[in-house]
Amino acid sequence: MSDPRPIGVFDSGVGGLTVLSEIRDRLPYEHTVYFGDTARVPYGVRDLAEVRWFAFEIIRYLVDMDVKLVVIACNTATAAALKATQRTFDVPIIGVIEPGARAAVLETRNRRVGVLATQGTVRSGAYRRAVASLDAGIEVYEQACPEFVPLIERGIVGGPELEGVTRGYLLPLKQRGTDAVILGCTHYPLISATINRVLGPEVRLISSAGQTALEVARVLSRRGFLRRPKRPEDKGRSTYICSADPEEFAILGSRFLGEEIRADSPAAAL
Ligand code: DGL
Repeated sequence: MSDPRPIGVFDSGVGGLTVLSEIRDRLPYEHTVYFGDTARVPYGVRDLAEVRWFAFEIIRYLVDMDVKLVVIACNTATAAALKATQRTFDVPIIGVIEPGARAAVLETRNRRVGVLATQGTVRSGAYRRAVASLDAGIEVYEQACPEFVPLIERGIVGGPELEGVTRGYLLPLKQRGTDAVILGCTHYPLISATINRVLGPEVRLISSAGQTALEVARVLSRRGFLRRPKRPEDKGRSTYICSADPEEFAILGSRFLGEEIRADSPAAAL
């Protein structure tokens, strides 16, 4: 049995490409559809109820494209909408918070975990709950980083401006001696070199992208949803859709994925 339906992946912008890239590495035969909601980015400063509404709209759109599984490749949208959308839709829906929390619990030695995330994710308390459900003795320190996403969406992923902003955000976590820090926003792996340098080599940086891809592989395999082409060279195709300027998205996306991509506007208005 081979299931050729695509996997749907979405985020507010280019950040979820960090998750998509891991999914494609782990599951090279799967077709994927990526939706970047660039007309409404950033999600992190918005009310969670509003982000939940966006998540419902986008998942409905992806389901209409006959996806076999949806990945909410956005921490803010996972915090706002994972449970509610899982209750509503028939397709399996996977978020990015639980996989990151699990990886951090495994990595920390001193049981002090830091979380860098958007204001919305921090306000939701989702990471605190996810870590506590695995090890209630771990202390969690959260830091909202509202300036990161607008910088990354402008293509600024290094340089003095980013470095200055990063130092400001990381100081409180350094003072608390956290030895594992979760990149609690899917945009942040794109600036992990700067974050790493500021935190120092003794702190482990955790991105949920790899763990999320693993979870996607597990779910597809258990449900018998994997695509199994007859010829090994028949790799999966990726389609990119965004709600603002497709050209801008393609330029930034190509840079971050390290390959030429093109993007389209959604066929039906959201
Ligand atoms: N990349 C998203 C996240 O993981 C959203 C960032 C934003 O739009 O503020 O939270």
